[in-house]
Amino acid sequence: MRASLCILGIETSCDDTGIALYDAEKGLLAHILHSQTDLVTQYGGVVPELASRDHLCRLLPLVRHVIGEAGLVPQDISAVAYTAGPGLAGALLVGAAFGRSLAWAWNIPAIEVHHMEGHLLAPLLEPNPPKFPFLALLVSGGHTMLVSVTEMGQYELLGESLDDAAGEAFDKTAKLLGLGFPGGPAIAHWAKQAQAGKFVFPRPMTNKNNKKSTLDFSFSGLKTAVRLAWESSDQTDQTRANIAHAFQEAVVDTLVLKCQRALQFTGLTRLVIAGGVSANQLLREKLNKLQGTTVYYPRLAFCTDNGAMIAYAGYRRFIMGDIKQTLGFQVRARWPLTAI
Ligand code: KG4
Ligand code: ZN
Repeated sequence: MRASLCILGIETSCDDTGIALYDAEKGLLAHILHSQTDLVTQYGGVVPELASRDHLCRLLPLVRHVIGEAGLVPQDISAVAYTAGPGLAGALLVGAAFGRSLAWAWNIPAIEVHHMEGHLLAPLLEPNPPKFPFLALLVSGGHTMLVSVTEMGQYELLGESLDDAAGEAFDKTAKLLGLGFPGGPAIAHWAKQAQAGKFVFPRPMTNKNNKKSTLDFSFSGLKTAVRLAWESSDQTDQTRANIAHAFQEAVVDTLVLKCQRALQFTGLTRLVIAGGVSANQLLREKLNKLQGTTVYYPRLAFCTDNGAMIAYAGYRRFIMGDIKQTLGFQVRARWPLTAI
């Protein structure tokens, strides 16, 4: 007999296979992640077909692992939550088909989870979680969004990137400088060896004030500025570090300024930062200095893609009654957060 509500979470939206078990009473029971870093490094980026095939190989052993680690048997699981979008269609389909099949075989409900809602709720897995309402800055490889969160599922998009996401800008800049993948940690690492002030890059779309549109972002011009600086430089390791430093400063300053404006605009005093770029230490340091604001982050392992955030978001959706009992399913490569 099931002791309490226990959700299996499955994340396969891009190049990470994440599996976790979340229990309504005991919290997170177990989680595991397989990142396709070797594949991505070998091919110079995520190849959707290879990502899908890799998920297929990883899912079953990882699910067995977390169930074993939690000391459970499949009969203890109450529902299966999986990422239904947004993300790479093939990768999502693997997780969705697998999740739905498990739910069918175990005769339990399935729950579709929005990947960005997973990120947004990840800080709620930590001690002293934020209370609603709050402002959320979601900064990942695929998205850069400022969201006003009134309640679970009540989201208003205040601003988003008009072109590259912040994480994508980190990845592309790191690739240009030959720093490896993923770009965010590589840039942060190289920036530590920099001579500060050798380069200064623009803080895009920050010069207007007091208008909602100024809460949007644009990082493609910054990327071009970095490319021009790199191509006309001596291309030494010191220059690599100097450019990495100036780039990181520009992105972080831009994100911090937009958060500050959105906090003023909404009157909110709690700020949640999630998604891969929320692991950035400089961003954390600068946000922590915002006066009158309490900032909440996921632990580092749950900033980037993971199964725990999907299990938890699935749990929150389950108690709202948002479950699927039928066999048919669809995934959404594009899926606005406000359309859940
Ligand atoms: O959330 P995530 O794992 O995947 C998506 O949903 O996109 O985010 C991955 C992104 C990558 O672009 C990576 O470079 C960035 O997060 N990232 C960082 C850091 N760690 C990961 N960016 C800046 N600083 C970091 N420390
Ligand atoms: Zn993500």
